[in-house]
Amino acid sequence: MVRAENKGKISLVSIDNPPVNALNADVRQGLVKAVQAAAADPNVQAIVIASSGKTFTAGADIAEFGKLARPPSLPELIAALEKSPKPIVAAINGVALGGGLELALACHSRVASPDAKLGLPEVKLGLIPGSGGTQRLPRLIGAAAALQIMSSGEPVDAKAALSLGIVDAVAEGNLVETAMAQALNLARNGSWPLVSESTDRSTSEAREAFEVAAVEISRRAAEMPNVATLVELVRATFEMSFEEGLALEREQFLRLIADDRSKALRYVFFSERETARVPGLSRDTLPRPINRAAVIGAGTMGSGIAMCFANADIPVTVVETSGAALSRGMERIEGTYDVSVKRGTITSEEKERRIALIRGQVGLEAVGDADVVVEAVFEDMGVKKAIFSELDRFSRQGAILATNTSYLDINEIASATARPEDVVGLHFFSPANVMRLLEVVRTDKTAPDVVATALSLGRRLGKVPVVVGVCFGFVGNRMLARRTTAAERLLVDGALPHEVDAAVTQFGFRMGPFAMADLAGLDIGWRTRRSLGTKAAVADALCEAGRFGQKAGRGYYTYKEGDRTAHRDPEVEHLIEEVSYSLAVKRRTFTADEIIERLMYPMVNEGARILDERIAARTSDIDVIWLNGYNWPAWRGGPMYWADRVGLRRIAARLEVLSEESGDDSLEPARLLQRLASEERTFADLARERV
Ligand code: 3HC
Repeated sequence: MVRAENKGKISLVSIDNPPVNALNADVRQGLVKAVQAAAADPNVQAIVIASSGKTFTAGADIAEFGKLARPPSLPELIAALEKSPKPIVAAINGVALGGGLELALACHSRVASPDAKLGLPEVKLGLIPGSGGTQRLPRLIGAAAALQIMSSGEPVDAKAALSLGIVDAVAEGNLVETAMAQALNLARNGSWPLVSESTDRSTSEAREAFEVAAVEISRRAAEMPNVATLVELVRATFEMSFEEGLALEREQFLRLIADDRSKALRYVFFSERETARVPGLSRDTLPRPINRAAVIGAGTMGSGIAMCFANADIPVTVVETSGAALSRGMERIEGTYDVSVKRGTITSEEKERRIALIRGQVGLEAVGDADVVVEAVFEDMGVKKAIFSELDRFSRQGAILATNTSYLDINEIASATARPEDVVGLHFFSPANVMRLLEVVRTDKTAPDVVATALSLGRRLGKVPVVVGVCFGFVGNRMLARRTTAAERLLVDGALPHEVDAAVTQFGFRMGPFAMADLAGLDIGWRTRRSLGTKAAVADALCEAGRFGQKAGRGYYTYKEGDRTAHRDPEVEHLIEEVSYSLAVKRRTFTADEIIERLMYPMVNEGARILDERIAARTSDIDVIWLNGYNWPAWRGGPMYWADRVGLRRIAARLEVLSEESGDDSLEPARLLQRLASEERTFADLARERV
């Protein structure tokens, strides 16, 4: 875990704990021992701490949180490093995150490789840096800059770290040799700076700059208690001694680690990584190389998907049936990039570079050189099958043939080709260039290496890919359909759109279902309902009245020209009351808790069916889908994680009542839910059982 060897007068201590050098108990113990041995060795004048892998260290071992860990603790290790009688230099390659950067801050100098990234991402886990970071970083680079880094959780690169003063040098040549030279310099000087003793940055100007940053940051993160704590701790660097600040940091870190929000966020961290473990795939299943892509269809989804490829530096051909449709698509792409340039997220040179990677062409023969083809035309089985049978002719052998359908049967689409094993669903979420979720839909015949390719491609595109099976709506939309039905029923039974939306935003979503429907456009659902022969009395009536949502200026709410603010509309409320009257429903009021129950329990119920049918491999995959595709609040961990906390017994009992009241059989508790509820078990217990 930790190796030490003498290189001349230097003890070179290397951390070796793959894959990311997490600072678990063995590493901590190894480091303390190595530094003690170096201190006692008369041949050693200075120490360099380096990594023997690709990462300096990813910080504390998150898997140890909440458990009783063996000493020394990370704060104990870090205190021992700072007090070392011989100078220590950190040689930072790859990433130094969280406790990894805190460890480096306690060293007496830091040298980074040019590709290094340094950051304190604890805030993303609902935490604060807990090993001196909140006290050392402000003393080293100033309180305002330190607060920005810690509250964003985003790493800075080596160049920025150098100009901020986090590192003392960026190694031009060999990193370890540069760090060793620096260590010898410090030893020769006979004295070295301790970050904890620095007061240089505690001026009144620095205090003013910090207070300005604090106001803005506290406002942005009002719902996360850890951010307020972070601000308080950085403020303490002006008001308390280093030791007092350190003690306060420890106390607050331990408080936050026990907080339910942090537990949920840690669950999310591991769940997102768990999606990579797919039944039927082994480490030996190698993905096929992807050097060029093609997207069929230049509509909203097609152009968004093409941008995903260009953003990941993969050249892509966009295929359309006419020059006019192609031009509209290319204009849409250009327009979207223009917005990014205006917002300052990319430069205009970068925009040009990305657009140059996108080639537009009329006719399916243009897919010939693509390693992956993504079909993104409208949802019509006949059209899709015709395209896939043509692809057989035009696309090269071994190419991945993907469809972006959001609910059609991909087994049937695949049957139109002579190579169904190459067919897979790549279900992007709108806007495709923004949303992180990618449902990878495996058919009965999809080859394992095609699934592996879809996963690795998804990650290359910056997505969170989750493998699911074929069913109507796959995982996300199948569950969403339950919520949509429940939301419509709430209106008929007596609630109003703004009451439902308020309950959902209070729960933590950024938008309620009706504001969301207005944004997406009500006509899409209307068209789908007509093709499926289903009805939704309120939504249908709105569409019949031409209320298609924001784009029409009217939907569940009204909107003023050029303004996305939703305003209640008495006409809509009257229309809803008429629907209730025509269905002979006596309207009643609902509390926010009742609204949440009625919306979310049917979704959880559908999630249980999905698990039972093995459409999703595990509970956490369902949660990851909802977190990344539907903005489920991360600190609530996802619908299935949340359901465990509510209690499956309670959910099953309420569903019985709701099913009886409404006469809707789909609300009957699912078999799996009933079983777990009666055994007083949770979805998490089921996940452990299935491992
Ligand atoms: N603890 C435990 N396991 C970790 C870990 C950590 N800090 N960081 C990564 N891992 C594990 C992952 O779970 C994954 O395991 P798996 O292969 O079994 O699924 C494996 O390491 C590889 O991780 P990724 O798949 O994420 O690999 P990438 O190369 O894509 O990313 C990374 C590497 C940038 C280091 C990324 O893993 C990451 O951001 N890690 C989290 C860093 C972090 O949040 N550190 C702060 C920890 S809290 C802390 O230090 C508290 C302190 O203040 C007291």
